[in-house]
Amino acid sequence: MNRKMISVFGSKVGKEELVEIKTSLDNQWIGIGSKTDLFEKQFSKRLGLKDFLLLDSGSNALYLAVKLLNLPKGSEIILPTFTWISCATAIILNDCIPVFCDVDLETQNITAETIAPKITSNTKAIMIVHYAGLPVDMQKIKALGLPIIEDAAHAVDSKIGTDYCGSMGDIGIYSFDGIKNLAVGEGGGITAQNPELIEMGRKLRYCGIEKSGFQASTTKNRWWEYNVVDFMFKMIPDDISASIGIAQLKKLDTNQKRRKQIWNIYQEQFYDLDWFINPAEINPYDQHSYFTYFIRLKNDRRDELAKYLLDNGIYTTLRYQPLHMIPIYNSTHLKLPNSELLNEVGLNIPLHPNLTDNDVEYIIGKIKEFNG
Ligand SMILES: Cc1ncc(COP(=O)(O)O)c(C=O)c1O
Repeated sequence: MNRKMISVFGSKVGKEELVEIKTSLDNQWIGIGSKTDLFEKQFSKRLGLKDFLLLDSGSNALYLAVKLLNLPKGSEIILPTFTWISCATAIILNDCIPVFCDVDLETQNITAETIAPKITSNTKAIMIVHYAGLPVDMQKIKALGLPIIEDAAHAVDSKIGTDYCGSMGDIGIYSFDGIKNLAVGEGGGITAQNPELIEMGRKLRYCGIEKSGFQASTTKNRWWEYNVVDFMFKMIPDDISASIGIAQLKKLDTNQKRRKQIWNIYQEQFYDLDWFINPAEINPYDQHSYFTYFIRLKNDRRDELAKYLLDNGIYTTLRYQPLHMIPIYNSTHLKLPNSELLNEVGLNIPLHPNLTDNDVEYIIGKIKEFNG
C-alpha cells in the first residue's frame, strides 16, 4: 500500500505559524511574554469572553478550574463517563469525588435527565463536555442550580444562539493540543464568569506566585521577593505556542469551513447506509465545531470495520472508553448503558482540515465497500 496512513484527527499548520514564531525568535523571547498576552486578548475577543488565561494544556485547565471552585474536600462533582480521563483526574487531584453519569445515545452529551438522578446533598458542581462540538443543552443543566465547569475542548467554534461554548458555565476550559480545531502543539486555557477567578488563576498558573519579579519591579523595591498564594504546579504557556495560536486564530474560520464541508459530504454520502447511524445534526440556531465524526454501528462489526479501515490506511479510534469501566476509578459496578453501548458500537472516523478531497472520497469508498 503506497498511501500514507490517514489520521483520524488533525490540525492544519503552515507558513503563517512560522512567520509568527519567527518574530518571537527574532525578539529572543520564547517563554511566556507578549505573544501570550496577545493571544489571550484575541481569543477572548473572538469568543466575547471577559478574560482568558492561556495554560500549557486542557488537562491542567481542568485541574485549575476545579481548584478555583474552592469546594470542600470530598465534594461530589458529576461528569459524563463518556469523556477524557483528565476530567475525572482533575476532580480527584482536587480531593473531590467524580460521580459518573450517562450520556444521551444520539448526541453523546450529558443531559439534565442523566445528571438529575446522580445529585445528592454532597453534589457541589457539574462538569459538562460538548462532545464533538455539539453543544450540550446548557439551559436545562443550569436550571439544576449547581456551579458548572464547561469543557469546550471540542467546541472552540460552537455556539448556542450567539453564546460561544465555554462562555456559559461558571468556568470554561479549552484545549489547544496538536489535534484540536485550534492547535498550538500543547496548550489550553480557562475563562470564568467571575473575573476574580481568572485573576486568581493568573497567580496560580506560575507555581502559585502572586507576582513574578518582573511584574513586581514597577511597583516595589526588592521585586525578586515574592508571595506564594497556594501550592501549585507550573502550568504556564510559552510564546512559541502562543505564536502558533495567533496564526491559528486567523485561519480558524477557514479551517472550520473545511471541517463543515467534509461533515456535510459524509452526512450526505452515508445518509442511506442502513448499517450505521450518522452523528446528530445541530439545530439551525446553534453552531457546531465538527471536531470529530462519530458513527454508531447497528451490528456487532465495529471492531471489524476499524481493522478493515486500518488495513486500508485509514486510522480510526473510539473516543471515549467510558471512564467508569476503567478500574482505577472504582466505579466498575455502575451501569451506564448508553455509554457502555457506545463503547461497543461507536467509531470516530477521520475529520480534519488536512484531509484532501481525494482522502474523503477514499474514506467514503472504503466504508461503503466494507458492507457492500
Ligand atoms: C473533552 C476533553 N477535555 C479535556 C482534554 C484535555 O486537553 P489536553 O490534551 O490539552 O490536555 C481533552 C483532550 O483531548 C478532551 O478531549
